[in-house]
Amino acid sequence: MANDILKGKRGIIFGALDEHSIAWKVAEKAAEEGAIFTLTNAPIAMRMGKINDLAAKCNAEIIPADATSLADLDNLVQGSMDKLGGKLDFVLHSIGMSPNVRKSKPYTDLNYDFFQKTVDVSALSFHKVMQTTMKLDAMNEWSSILALTYIAAQRTFPDYSDMAEAKSMLESIARSFGYHYGTAKNVRVNTISQSPTRTTAGSGVKGFDDFIDFADKMSPLGNATAEDCANYCISMFSDYTRMVTMQNLMHDGGFSSTGITAKMLEKD
Ligand code: NAI
Repeated sequence: MANDILKGKRGIIFGALDEHSIAWKVAEKAAEEGAIFTLTNAPIAMRMGKINDLAAKCNAEIIPADATSLADLDNLVQGSMDKLGGKLDFVLHSIGMSPNVRKSKPYTDLNYDFFQKTVDVSALSFHKVMQTTMKLDAMNEWSSILALTYIAAQRTFPDYSDMAEAKSMLESIARSFGYHYGTAKNVRVNTISQSPTRTTAGSGVKGFDDFIDFADKMSPLGNATAEDCANYCISMFSDYTRMVTMQNLMHDGGFSSTGITAKMLEKD
């Protein structure tokens, strides 16, 4: 399917942990479409994950960065421009983590230090990435910055816990920064709201298997896979979507517009 639609484009891809990660699929497809990019992840995740395999496959260099650290981000963005030979055309923020979810804290008994960590890793990091690229004047005109989000930002899914607040903030940051980046540099900023997907982050949510099945039945097209999501990301990095900015783009097989489906009503 590759058509070189990202030929000549340079980027940074955050969040590829293993072959299930959405960012992993985006990296594979970006390479197929002719892009060059650096891969990054938190140093600790790098020891656990398989990012070296992906880097070899995509001919990409790895620059570790904790996305909550401005010093790390500065090093990453400057290093990426140096290694790739110029300013950037795309950035994928594919990062999420809640210590409250990990430690199964009920929503009505949250640990607030954990909550702050959730927000810092899953939402503020997006602002930090963009503030860093802006200060370093690292983005080309009409470049595209994306983060991945989930519909729990708009509707309550109880076991998503404090990640819901983080995703609401993430989407708001995309709108606010999108205004400033668009006005200043014609850079576009969007979030893609993805169906539940079997990945390390996704599977951390309690009752995930039932939940993924429910979403599938409630979506006229079924759940969007990680590959589908990667294809959408590629189109958003391409020049075919130049005028799309400050949007939360639903990528969910129709879930967000559906009230009830025949599949949901089927009795066994
Ligand atoms: P994943 O677990 O493969 O990716 C999450 C990544 O965040 C990992 O690579 C992890 O190392 C990275 N990360 C965590 N803390 C970090 C830090 N301090 N600095 C840098 N990186 C850090 O899972 P997945 O599902 O591919 O997640 C990617 C994005 O997609 C996340 O934003 C997630 O919330 C979002 N998403 C996932 C859905 C799902 O059901 N899997 C549904 C909708 C959105």
